[in-house]
Amino acid sequence: MAKTGDEVLNQFQQAKQEEVVASGGPKLKVGIIGTGWIAEAHIQSFKRMPDVEVVAGADLIPGKAEKFFQDWGVENVRCYPDHKSMLEAEELDAVSVCTYNVTHAECTIDALNKGVHVLLEKPMSVTLDEAVEMVKAEKKSGKVLSIGFQPRFDANMQQIKKIVDSGVLGEIYYIQTGGGRRRGIPNSTFIEKKTAGIGALGDIGCYSLDMVLNAIGYPKPLTVSGYTSDFFGKSYEYSLPENASRFDVDDFAAAFIRLEGGIILDFRIAWAMHLDTPGDTIILGKKGGLRIPSTECWNGTVGGPMVLYQDVAGQRVDTVLPIIEDGGPGLFDRKIRSFLDAIINDSPAPVPSSQILINQAILDGIARSAELGKEIEITIPEV
Ligand SMILES: NC(=O)c1ccc[n+]([C@@H]2O[C@H](COP(=O)([O-])OP(=O)(O)OC[C@H]3O[C@@H](n4cnc5c(N)ncnc54)[C@H](O)[C@@H]3O)[C@@H](O)[C@H]2O)c1
Repeated sequence: MAKTGDEVLNQFQQAKQEEVVASGGPKLKVGIIGTGWIAEAHIQSFKRMPDVEVVAGADLIPGKAEKFFQDWGVENVRCYPDHKSMLEAEELDAVSVCTYNVTHAECTIDALNKGVHVLLEKPMSVTLDEAVEMVKAEKKSGKVLSIGFQPRFDANMQQIKKIVDSGVLGEIYYIQTGGGRRRGIPNSTFIEKKTAGIGALGDIGCYSLDMVLNAIGYPKPLTVSGYTSDFFGKSYEYSLPENASRFDVDDFAAAFIRLEGGIILDFRIAWAMHLDTPGDTIILGKKGGLRIPSTECWNGTVGGPMVLYQDVAGQRVDTVLPIIEDGGPGLFDRKIRSFLDAIINDSPAPVPSSQILINQAILDGIARSAELGKEIEITIPEV
């Protein structure tokens, strides 16, 4: 009988535990920077990793880190009022950067400069300039910097890349991607420039871009014509007054991007709209096309069976590719485990900054083009 996901996970954790015990090696000392909502997923995953000890945490809000570790039943964690004081006082192997977007760059660069490996939440940053500085710090430090795109560990997402790599689509010339929600504007720190920097564009747009760009090998962007709007977020009809009054990021973005290799990327993303979905993701090649159904609540997954369109000996054939139920550890555990394994094995980051730098260049390009109201060129500095 096939094993359930939990059974596979238990077996995997037990094997890891035995390995750690057998090696007698010390556990990796980990700190968490920013103890808000997403840090909850990090702490739960770290608790399941037998070769990790979470020893420190930091949050700008007084008492928040202390309460966080207490709530999650993790004892003897030293708490700090900001990331700098934590990095100063502690000898850490690694940190999870779980802060809101505008402090991603500062926290990551400071940790890398201190010789600490970094697992950074998505999006990589707010601007391209910040992302470039992060890659510079990573190169100088020789440490692992991995960006937290857990959909990368979904077998269905990996299948998209396998299909492209198999050559069945032939040369790719056009991609449409994006997604969104009819209503789904987050609140808290996501809706203000001073904390989030960018809105739907960075929050869920980065996932849509990664879905297709990773599949085609992350070609560089050349130009972008971008558009952003904020109608729903600012509206007292569709948002709560306390949210509408402080909303100053995008809730919808669209762009037409030219990539190296003559590929066109047509993109749109929404936190809210008068529509169920702005369309499926499609990848058009000279030999075949692939449709990847959108999800209702865009969260970086495949919304249903993909369809491959081809001509076979003059006959048009549509092949439905069933959803892969791969069991095993959850995506978040895979994201955390792959980061830890890269540290232990001295291997490359599972989601490398060299790729996500390109993702960030596109987000940055869309935001700048939208502000200028015209198409712009995208130049990524050599790092
Ligand atoms: N991977 C995912 O599925 C996923 C899901 C949700 C959010 N995220 C990402 O996680 C990040 C955080 O989101 P959230 O919902 O947890 O936000 P949040 O606002 O709930 O938490 C962020 C916390 O970081 C703290 N902080 C900011 N700068 C700091 C610093 N210099 N030192 C110490 N603490 C600092 C804030 O005080 C806050 O408590 C965002 O970038 C978001 O895009 C990822």
